[in-house]
Amino acid sequence: MSFQAVAVRRDRKSEFYGDLAGQLRGLLDGEHDVVANAANTAALIYQLVPELNWAGFYFLKTERELVVGPFQGKPACVRIAVGRGVCGSAVEQRRSILVEDVHAFPGHIACDDASRSELVIPLIQGGRVLGVLDLDSPHTARFDREDQAGMENLAAIFVAACAWPAGA
Ligand code: SME
Repeated sequence: MSFQAVAVRRDRKSEFYGDLAGQLRGLLDGEHDVVANAANTAALIYQLVPELNWAGFYFLKTERELVVGPFQGKPACVRIAVGRGVCGSAVEQRRSILVEDVHAFPGHIACDDASRSELVIPLIQGGRVLGVLDLDSPHTARFDREDQAGMENLAAIFVAACAWPAGA
């Protein structure tokens, strides 16, 4: 298969994320492997969403710990305890967390010194938290509520496309 990522409009965010959602559905169509789909989702986002320095996944491997999954960007911290950092807080609170300035977020875990703002979306299926989608930007206040809504939709497409192992 040869998947061609198509440049998307960036002037209107709702259209941008609508286009991206269509491309992600096409990219994941017929494939249910979690690692394969996470890798391609991270790659698509990193290729097409401007002003990112990290895009990828952490998966909840036990009730108390996230472990890094497929991503694009610099090598990252491997394990994050639930309740720690932006990622662990998003899992604990079961909600997306948008951080305009990472230096103002108590407990932020700096994997890449270049990161200035961050958006973390929990992956939830049937009430069970599976992990997070994490986006970092080198620009302060890179993400707004439209980015959050668009990324939550992409995360939902990813979660729905995958066959999740029981209890993992
Ligand atoms: N900043 C995250 C850690 C993961 S890296 O950004 C890839 C956090 O505070 O949880």
